[in-house]
Amino acid sequence: MNAFLRRTFVAVSLALAGLHAVAQDFPNRTLTMMMPYAPGGPGDTITRVFAGAMQKQLGQQIVVENTAGASGTIGTAKVARSKPDGYSLLMIHVSHATNQAMFKNLPYHPVDDFEPIGRATSGPMVIVTRNDFPAKDLNEFVSYVKANGPKISLAHAGVGSASHLCGLMMQSALNVQMNDIPYKGTGPALTDLMGGQVDVLCDQTSGTVPPVKAGKIKAYAAAGKSRLSGLPDVPAISEAGVQGLDINISFGLYAPKGTPKPVLDQLTAALQKSVSDPEVRQRLEAMGISAVTPDQARPEALRAHLKNEMDTLGNLLIKAGVKPN
Ligand code: MLT
Repeated sequence: MNAFLRRTFVAVSLALAGLHAVAQDFPNRTLTMMMPYAPGGPGDTITRVFAGAMQKQLGQQIVVENTAGASGTIGTAKVARSKPDGYSLLMIHVSHATNQAMFKNLPYHPVDDFEPIGRATSGPMVIVTRNDFPAKDLNEFVSYVKANGPKISLAHAGVGSASHLCGLMMQSALNVQMNDIPYKGTGPALTDLMGGQVDVLCDQTSGTVPPVKAGKIKAYAAAGKSRLSGLPDVPAISEAGVQGLDINISFGLYAPKGTPKPVLDQLTAALQKSVSDPEVRQRLEAMGISAVTPDQARPEALRAHLKNEMDTLGNLLIKAGVKPN
């Protein structure tokens, strides 16, 4: 073997030995799982379920960090800049796709600056209002919104968020313009809805079903073609003849670009065991959310899902007249 090949062989062997040592030693300290929306919302709830399940699999504590604001881009940028060693993770949903179209100077690229670990959940959304909203059923809600759109305040978690997308689709489907009120997450939005400071919110079920059942807010419709498992008496919006509002929100887990493959494989394995964990599946189902299958909890599935959302939803926002920041 000539000197060049020998040197290359040694270099590659040392690199592989280094990677192997990294993976063998990982994880040896606390990990951080970023949730770039405020505490108390659906993203926060789902992140805490998976942090709890994955720390059992990995044998190290996982701390959830809520760095909220600017539609999740502040927390996401922080993970993009983190050391790619497997100890900084990001749990995020559709806004990882939409923010690319919503922010001209995004400080990261959703694909180039991240390693997909796998998908985690998927779930429906529901249209809820303050308790004294003046409509006795879905048909009256549709008529009232069509007649009073600009006078109605519509809460969401920032441009490109799931609640913002659902709100846009609802306004487009009802051919009406409402008054947008952005929050750092739908946790704080729900607090204002229960207090009567804001009128309408379209949110994921993990945060909304409990206050609906407790009589603190009203649910008028599932934002799609099927009723919700947790609220079987609430009609689907399609039952009122409203077309064009059918949304499902999926969360996925990422690490910064450059995280070693053996480390990513361990994180994917821990995620796959978590989505198969009966306790995780039961906790999510109680909130009307589904854990994905182990096959979907893989990098390829998350990469494909993100590409599909980037190809479709960014344009939807632009067509809806949302001006990029
Ligand atoms: C959203 O996109 O509406 C967010 O998921 C809300 C949240 O998690 O706080």
